[in-house]
Amino acid sequence: MSRLDSMLRRFTAQRDGLNWAAAEIAGVAGDVLDMGLGNGRTYDHLREILPDRRVWVIDRVLQCHPSCVPPEADFLQGEAVPMLERLKSEGHKIVLAHYDFGFGVKEQDVAEAAAMSPVIASVMAKGGIVVSGQPLVGFEELKGPEGIPEGRYLFYRA
Ligand SMILES: C[S@@+](CC[C@H](N)C(=O)[O-])C[C@H]1O[C@@H](n2cnc3c(N)ncnc32)[C@H](O)[C@@H]1O
Repeated sequence: MSRLDSMLRRFTAQRDGLNWAAAEIAGVAGDVLDMGLGNGRTYDHLREILPDRRVWVIDRVLQCHPSCVPPEADFLQGEAVPMLERLKSEGHKIVLAHYDFGFGVKEQDVAEAAAMSPVIASVMAKGGIVVSGQPLVGFEELKGPEGIPEGRYLFYRA
């Protein structure tokens, strides 16, 4: 498969997974969290499909497209673990989280996601959904939406 096809499939899975999760959390109270602002694509999508939710974003750097800069109060700039701990200590409960951290080195990305899983779990509302580009541990794995090939994107319930 060409890299173009592979990227398109990943983006499609990401979008379909986020849309599916947004429907799953309808009527459940809580905020949304995008882990990895990057270019701001997924943040932009989340704020579009969930306009009534507060969307927190974590990234160590602010380098997104100018149209996707989050409000200062919702952007947690810094390393993921202390930022997650801050969310927890302030009592915020996350009902939908999207995990998109990574360096692009599979082994390191998998290890980081596993190590970060307990602190992610600590900010989740009971029954909340995590949509993830990397395998997480300690959550109930869900099938997710139809049409996403196994392993391309991952879905969990807290
Ligand atoms: C793949 S990009 C996110 C792409 C984004 N979801 C989008 O749609 O544009 C990953 C981002 O996560 C950030 N990142 C990776 N590991 C991190 C960590 N441990 N703490 C904070 N930010 C991290 C990087 O700075 C990078 O901007």
